[in-house]
Amino acid sequence: MNRQRVWDLPIRLFHWLLVASITFAYISGTLGGNLIDWHGRAGFFIVGLVVFRIVWGFTGTPTARFATFVRGPAAIRAYLRGEWRGLGHNPIGALSVLGLLALVAIQAATGLFTNDDIAYQGPFADWVGKDLSDRFHSWHALLQNGLLALIAVHVGAIVFYLRVKKENLVKPMLTGWKAADPAAARAGQYAPPPAARRGGGFIAFLVAAAIAGAAGLAAAGALLPPPPAAAPQPASAAPAW
Ligand code: HEM
Ligand code: HEM
Repeated sequence: MNRQRVWDLPIRLFHWLLVASITFAYISGTLGGNLIDWHGRAGFFIVGLVVFRIVWGFTGTPTARFATFVRGPAAIRAYLRGEWRGLGHNPIGALSVLGLLALVAIQAATGLFTNDDIAYQGPFADWVGKDLSDRFHSWHALLQNGLLALIAVHVGAIVFYLRVKKENLVKPMLTGWKAADPAAARAGQYAPPPAARRGGGFIAFLVAAAIAGAAGLAAAGALLPPPPAAAPQPASAAPAW
């Protein structure tokens, strides 16, 4: 056995769908105009993706679990000394994963309350009133720069691994497999902690997908009461012609 399963299919789908939908959200948000409706829809989809990833972080296969890859300062020091051997996110990569997920979630959440001053607003903008919605507008516009910066660091790290460490991380994110390090495998360094050994089955996937779908619909305002019907015009107000 000279290769090791590293990323399950749901993680890979999550990742590349997130990349595609964030790219679309940037382009449509910046261009605005008629695209802003689709910008909002992409945002609801992104909410669903992030919720899916959070649930999968508890119910997915070992490398997907937060319990496996979110590590304390000792693991980070060991990684920096070059002593970390493991499968999946390294202890520093884990921080960037959490940062990316958090910033994407906050960016999408601020979008739900913002408005474009013309014809479109997030489904919850009326809840907070125009003044606060305008503040969300500034946060939404400002935070995108933080998100862009973190994405640049993320892609920079992937390029660093490829060029300097001669390790291609993108291939496993496409195929799910990476070449195994036989010494590390023999030393049991790929074994996940006991808390994360099970999971990632089809039922777990269906549950995570159902929760994510419900979150996406809720973000789109599906649980909000319908707007009050317009009052009927009195007959006398109708023009005579
Ligand atoms: C992670 C997801 C999202 C990203 C990356 C994103 C990104 C952006 C960007 C780059 C702009 C242009 C800002 C500017 O410079 O003026 C924008 C504007 C806008 N977005 Fe989003 N957005 C996201 C989610 C959402 C969601 C969920 C909604 C609501 C349904 C939303 C509603 C709006 C509106 C109404 C505008 C125009 C007004 C404004 O700038 O606040 N966005 N978005
Ligand atoms: C919108 C831009 C992007 C965002 C928001 C993003 C976000 C993420 C997230 C959240 C993860 C953690 C995966 C998980 O465990 O769920 C991740 C991992 C990863 N991403 Fe991205 N990504 C972006 C663009 C890219 C691009 C363009 C590439 C390829 C050049 C890439 C390659 C990877 C790889 C290889 C990993 C696994 C890293 C490892 O081995 O620890 N990402 N990304």
